[in-house]
Amino acid sequence: MVGLVTGGGSGIGAALCRRLAARGVAVVVADVDEAGAQVVADETGGMALALDVSRRDAWEAAIASVADEHGRLDLLALNAGTMSRPRGASIDDDPFPWIAENYEKVRAVNNDGVVFGILAALPLLEAASGRIVCTSSGAGLRPLDSDPIYSMTKHAVIGLVRSLAGPLAARGIAIGAVCPGGVDTPMVSPDIRALGRAFASADHVAEALETVLDASVAETGGIWISRGTEAPWRYEFADATTPPSHNPAGVTP
Ligand SMILES: NC(=O)c1ccc[n+]([C@@H]2O[C@H](COP(=O)([O-])OP(=O)(O)OC[C@H]3O[C@@H](n4cnc5c(N)ncnc54)[C@H](O)[C@@H]3O)[C@@H](O)[C@H]2O)c1
Repeated sequence: MVGLVTGGGSGIGAALCRRLAARGVAVVVADVDEAGAQVVADETGGMALALDVSRRDAWEAAIASVADEHGRLDLLALNAGTMSRPRGASIDDDPFPWIAENYEKVRAVNNDGVVFGILAALPLLEAASGRIVCTSSGAGLRPLDSDPIYSMTKHAVIGLVRSLAGPLAARGIAIGAVCPGGVDTPMVSPDIRALGRAFASADHVAEALETVLDASVAETGGIWISRGTEAPWRYEFADATTPPSHNPAGVTP
């Protein structure tokens, strides 16, 4: 079995690479940070892949090199992500300056990186009846005043996963997403750490990602919460086929 993990050079992605390698999966450690990817590839006996997920041409080249090297792809973890709030900024700062500065980049990594990855990997995943997991966030289910753009992109990942579940299932591919709470990785900036909240370990969230990668097509489209030390649990939405009931005009969205 072959698995590709984006953002595999650090944090949650690196922990997932270690877990997959431990169960015999040939790991492709993909990251824009080539040095980080190489460290994790050396550790897991995997293949390091320099990949900027926000570039469609880079995705096509990456999948071509996986096909050359392994001839198949069974598991795809679309985990790379970034925030718009600069490290060191206070969570009480006005977010508008960094929304203006970082919007395109955050959208490109967190959303284009997921869509381009699915499109590029589709033929290999279909051939392998593969599985996809995306790393969203608790901020994909609730507002995040300190980083509205991050929250927007993580909501978008959830909408994409739920909407693509059917079309992917028709090709024998399962998809799901994990929404972590705070996780002890380099993404958490010092001011957030200073709040003294408890953070999950990267390995704990990686275990949740692994659970979703193990899910069957019958369970596809699930959005899973991974908080603290809790086992992952599936978030239940209202019936997606029923219009919202608090809608006096009766307008179907
Ligand atoms: N740490 C948290 O508290 C937390 C909470 C909820 C969700 N998440 C999500 O978890 C995922 C993993 O983050 P993490 O916490 O392990 O952080 P991290 O900073 O340790 O890892 C993120 C990785 O993504 C890579 N990356 C960034 N831009 C990229 C690009 N354009 N192409 C390829 N790789 C790129 C980075 O180089 C890094 O290796 C992200 O999607 C993040 O939004 C993290």
